[in-house]
Amino acid sequence: MVSKNILRDIIVSNEEFILKHINKIVERKGLLFPQTLNKSVVLYGVRRSGKTFILFNLFKSNRERALYVDFEDERLLGFGLKDFEELKDVMLEMKPDLVEEELVFLLDEVQNIEGWERFCRRAVERENIRVFVSGSSSKMMPSEIQTELRGRSWSVEVFPFSFREYLRAEDIDTTDKNLLYGPRKAILKKYFSEYMKWGGFPEVSLLKSDLEKTKLIKEYFSAMYFRDLVERYNIRNIPLLESLTDKLFSSFSLKFSLNAFYKQNKDRFPFSKDLLFRYYRHFLQSMLVFEVKKFAESTYTRMRNPAKVYLVDTGLCRRITSADAGRLLENIAFLELRRRGYEVFYFEEERECDFIARTDEDRLFPVQVCFELNEENMEREIGGLIQACRWLNINDGTILTYGDEKDLRIDGINIEVHPVWKWLLQHRSAQ
Ligand SMILES: Nc1ncnc2c1ncn2[C@@H]1O[C@H](COP(=O)(O)OP(=O)(O)OP(=O)(O)O)[C@@H](O)[C@H]1O
Ligand SMILES: [Mg+2]
Repeated sequence: MVSKNILRDIIVSNEEFILKHINKIVERKGLLFPQTLNKSVVLYGVRRSGKTFILFNLFKSNRERALYVDFEDERLLGFGLKDFEELKDVMLEMKPDLVEEELVFLLDEVQNIEGWERFCRRAVERENIRVFVSGSSSKMMPSEIQTELRGRSWSVEVFPFSFREYLRAEDIDTTDKNLLYGPRKAILKKYFSEYMKWGGFPEVSLLKSDLEKTKLIKEYFSAMYFRDLVERYNIRNIPLLESLTDKLFSSFSLKFSLNAFYKQNKDRFPFSKDLLFRYYRHFLQSMLVFEVKKFAESTYTRMRNPAKVYLVDTGLCRRITSADAGRLLENIAFLELRRRGYEVFYFEEERECDFIARTDEDRLFPVQVCFELNEENMEREIGGLIQACRWLNINDGTILTYGDEKDLRIDGINIEVHPVWKWLLQHRSAQ
């Protein structure tokens, strides 16, 4: 139980803080929120990706009827499920003219309140409250949300800045039609190579000096490593965790086989296969690492083949030499496909294609990524894409590169070759 006075204090001080101290908020326009459906919106995603700032921005645009509460606030110790009702009462006492109006509740780190799902359900079904919740923990992942809220929540995965958002952070007008052409193209390419190198964590993007960026990324990584892995899962076998980290963070855009890892390391230090599988799962739960499975009809084939791994941000990729640029592009393309809400697989039969993406409407499309198309790889890259198209019975495929751009028609298949940075800016959503 928390007293009304404290709740009032918190509401007022948060309002003041957001309105007075949070000045520059880069709009996250690509996020898909439900417009009319009565659903609670659940924001989840890796730490520092900007979830709290999305709530701040929602507060700014709904300020007359919104409240923001952070359940990590120590003054809220002892807040229980019943206190949500008090929160509403306090708000209406402060703003009585809202009694008949829709309210907007922005609840941060809400996983700290046992049973929060029940409140959300009631709020959207009966109380005329729009609810947006967020939290840093894997407890907010769709698979973890309590059954009470299943079907009544709308989960939105938050990633670090997309390239478009990154440009917006640099005050570039991304709606400018001429951006992709003429002299501005060179500036855009310069920004893109920065984006490849540093990734899109918002705070990192906004820093100016390379030294500070490096330092902040290191800090992020170690905070996530210790808090979201070691402490959270009570990890004891540190040599195993360290080797696995090293391997995963240098294997971005590559296949990763747990069995091979086991064989390579089992004589170096003691660990069981079960433990290895468990630690790997924790990486996925931390949302630092994603896996992409092989495209196959049967679940059995999908599970039996090793997955490819991608990192949540290219700023975290390790051992970058110029030879890894193609893999960085691939990682960026993966993240963008996920931002657009697609399910992603890789294709591998006699030939390979990096991605098969599946849209919400079940449309499939293959995407191949390579640094450039040249004499050496042309046959392989195009051949893989064509085989994927045939397999899916479709006539269009995409190849993403650093700088090549052309339209090809080969064996009845239309192939669009785009520079990744252009493709990132051309999608209809998130203008
Ligand atoms: N849209 C944005 N515009 C400007 N800066 C941002 C934006 N989003 C995030 N930031 C910067 O990145 C920092 C981290 O963002 P934020 O606190 O919103 O992340 P989070 O996902 O809530 O992290 P955590 O999971 O640790 O709570 C902010 O303090 C701010 O400096
Ligand atoms: Mg936060």
